[in-house]
Parts: sequence; structure tokens; C-alpha cells
Amino acid sequence: MILYFSGTGNSLAIARAIAEHVGDKVLPLREAVQTDLLQEKRIGFVYPVYNFNAPAIVPKIVAQLTLPKDAYYFIVCPCGAQTGDAIWQVERVLKQKGLTLHYCHKIRVPDNSAIGFGRNPNDQLWKFERFAPRLEQIKADIAACTSRHHFGSRGLAGVIARRPVFSRMVLEALRPKANADKCIGCGICAKVCPVSNIEMVDKCAINGDRCEFCLACVHFCPHQAMELGHKPTLKERQYHHPSIKAKDMIR
Ligand SMILES: Cc1cc2nc3c(=O)[nH]c(=O)nc-3n(C[C@H](O)[C@H](O)[C@H](O)COP(=O)(O)O)c2cc1C
Repeated sequence: MILYFSGTGNSLAIARAIAEHVGDKVLPLREAVQTDLLQEKRIGFVYPVYNFNAPAIVPKIVAQLTLPKDAYYFIVCPCGAQTGDAIWQVERVLKQKGLTLHYCHKIRVPDNSAIGFGRNPNDQLWKFERFAPRLEQIKADIAACTSRHHFGSRGLAGVIARRPVFSRMVLEALRPKANADKCIGCGICAKVCPVSNIEMVDKCAINGDRCEFCLACVHFCPHQAMELGHKPTLKERQYHHPSIKAKDMIR
């Protein structure tokens, strides 16, 4: 079973690619809490990196899962460049449960947060071709239940990741807010939000206090109404994995 968390589809697409190769199923991590995983022989976690951390919800949910002792465990992080502490954070939770992480790897994909820094994530589509051989290697490794760890460099990124105040400050700059003049209350943002954090109030989207900063609402809004730091969202900078559409993100 491959458990994923995804905002703009990179992690879902990679989870699906691995699942297809090894003949496994994918499941949103959030739904794993109500799923019996004890018979699984192989359990993978695929999730993005947010400011050198795992999305906050990922280690929290993994901690709640009842997991088999003798399964093969792997983590794959599709990220812009640097994983920082993101893999270690989930490995620590597995360790606390007395479980061994057998395999972990990052894979570089377009950085969906580029939109918040005045850049276009679609300018990074070249990464799919450049890192396709890496994905093939990851798929083959997991199919063969290889034991191998590529935690990525902890370096400066890891040091920054362990400063929660700094990390929070950076993430707060990426908190999406609906522009009431543009929002028509269509509710697509609420449907794609992987943590059901958006509500429609008087035909306008209101982002609650459980935002994971995945930016799904920003990238999938058909009216470019979800904005970061009051900067207009440009249609040409909206990104999602080319094979993943809004309907794939909706459960
Ligand atoms: C708020 C935020 C912070 C991010 N921080 C990092 C980072 O520290 N390192 C990195 O390599 N990529 C970073 N990214 C890029 C994402 O990890 C990457 O685009 C990921 O593949 C998105 O996955 P998804 O499409 O499944 O949501 C960040 C993205 C967001 C939205």
C-alpha cells in the first residue's frame, strides 16, 4: 500500500507510478487511519517537502497508524530540490513505533511554491525528463525491496528546518487567501484541499486554521481567486502535475 499526501499532484503521480510498477494500491494518507494495514507486506509514504519539513500532518498521521512489524517500509519525497529534515521526521516516527525504514529517496520535480516567489513552476517541467531515470531506479529498487537510504543532505537546510519559528514565518508568507472580488464561491478549492480546511461563506472561500500550505487551492482555482500575500495569481503560473487533474485530487 502506498500512502500519499499531495497538493498539486506530484506526489500522487509518483505514488501511482510506483504502485503501477510494483502492483500495489495508493491511498490518501488521511484515509489510512480507517484502513486495516496489518496484512500489508510493503508500505510506502510519498509526500512533498514544505520549507525543509514534511507537511505537518504527515508525521502526525503516521504516528496514529497501526502498522505491521515485518513490512518493507519506504519513503519517497518529490521536492523542488532539498528535503532538509522531511524524511528524517517520518523515519523518527517509524523508529518510535519500533519499525525500520528500509528505503528512502527524494526525486526532483517542479517546485509548486515558485508561484509565491514571483516565478513560474511550469518553467521547471524539464525536471520530469531530467529525473525520469531516477524515478525508474526508485521503482526498480522498491519492486526488489532494496535497502538503501538517500536522506539527502541535512546541511544548512536541516539546520533551518529545526527552527520552527523561522519555518513558520516562511510558511505564513505562503498562506492562501481568497480575493473576494474574484471568488465566485464555486467550491473547487474546498474540494481539492487535502485537509478539508476551506469553507464557503457568502459565496467566498475562507481558509481555516488547519492549512498545510500545499497550495492546491491556489493552483486549481479556475478564477485565480486564491492569492498569496495579496499578489494576484497569474493563470500561466498555476501548476499541477501534467497527468493529474482536479478530479484526481477530489475524494
Ligand atoms: C509551502 C511550500 C514549501 C516548499 N518547500 C520546499 C523545500 O523546502 N524544498 C523543496 O525541495 N521543495 C519545496 N517545495 C516544493 C514541493 O515540495 C514540491 O513542489 C512538491 O513536489 C509538491 O508536491 P505535490 O504536487 O504532491 O503537492 C515547497 C512547496 C510548498 C508549497
